[in-house]
Amino acid sequence: MDLRGKIGGAVSRIRGLFARPEAPAQDPARFAAYSDTSIPVIECKNVTKIFKDRRTGKESIALENVSFTIEDLPNMGEFITILGPSGCGKSTLLNIISGLEPHYPQTKGEVKVKGAPVAGPGSDRGMVFQSYSSFPCYTVLENVAFGLMLKGAPEKEREDIAADWIKKVKLAGFERKYPKELSGGMRQRVALARTLAVNPRIVLMDEPFGALDRITRWEMQDLLIELWEKVQATVFLVTHDIPEAVYLGDRLFLMTPRPGRLTEIVKLPRPTEKAAEMQRTSRFAETVNEISRKVESIH
Ligand SMILES: Nc1ncnc2c1ncn2[C@@H]1O[C@H](COP(=O)(O)OP(=O)(O)OP(=O)(O)O)[C@@H](O)[C@H]1O
Ligand SMILES: [Mg+2]
Repeated sequence: MDLRGKIGGAVSRIRGLFARPEAPAQDPARFAAYSDTSIPVIECKNVTKIFKDRRTGKESIALENVSFTIEDLPNMGEFITILGPSGCGKSTLLNIISGLEPHYPQTKGEVKVKGAPVAGPGSDRGMVFQSYSSFPCYTVLENVAFGLMLKGAPEKEREDIAADWIKKVKLAGFERKYPKELSGGMRQRVALARTLAVNPRIVLMDEPFGALDRITRWEMQDLLIELWEKVQATVFLVTHDIPEAVYLGDRLFLMTPRPGRLTEIVKLPRPTEKAAEMQRTSRFAETVNEISRKVESIH
């Protein structure tokens, strides 16, 4: 069986998995939770993740006692950026929220999305990874429509929605291209479109622009802000780039080296100018310096 056939087979298996935890239309209680803004979008209470080495039995703590609440702000999402040294558990935290193994489930503590404990992946949560995660054998259009196919949307509907998102990420004209024919920045636009096309309530982004040059990164930050204002989702974005964390974040989560703990939450203003302009101002540089000092002091 070719790769497309294999993916097609996997789709029907995954479809059930994806439909179950979300499906607010079929689950009145969950639907009600999503329209009740008094229920936080995410609540993490004392979340700890311990990995055990299968051969030696040795345990290592990836994440320790992480607690925070993301309130459901009416008509606006919140943008959370996460900074922390390599290995402090940033990806682990994102994967636990998205319900992706082997990080999910947490060893201790509680993770609730709109009041319900996370019970696996769901299309209410979309993930964008650092590596270009598009299917190489699918065109841009097919990649963007993929999540909609998992949700069981009819072909015409998913192609229309996908084409619309391709326009929004400024890739019109590239619908029939394959990922290998695109630049890194363009591939991350495909990943963004694919994730946002299913209208997730929470978008989890793990170093999505890590492999991009500075100018392309700025362009992607502008695009992300523009799209985020449209979708009003809660965004978690992990980055090693302090200016990026400062520019995008409403709140910046600072994590300690391994075992990762959430040591400080810094509130930040929303961007008022395009990334390239704002990140060149002396005021912005002052905030970046302040955060850099905090980062250095916890290393
Ligand atoms: N599948 C796994 N099995 C065992 N240990 C793991 C696994 N995944 C991650 N870890 C460990 O958990 C810790 C946290 O890893 P994680 O990938 O979450 O870090 P990170 O903060 O995302 O790092 P980076 O910035 O380098 O991406 C690390 O010590 C890592 O070795
Ligand atoms: Mg990581």
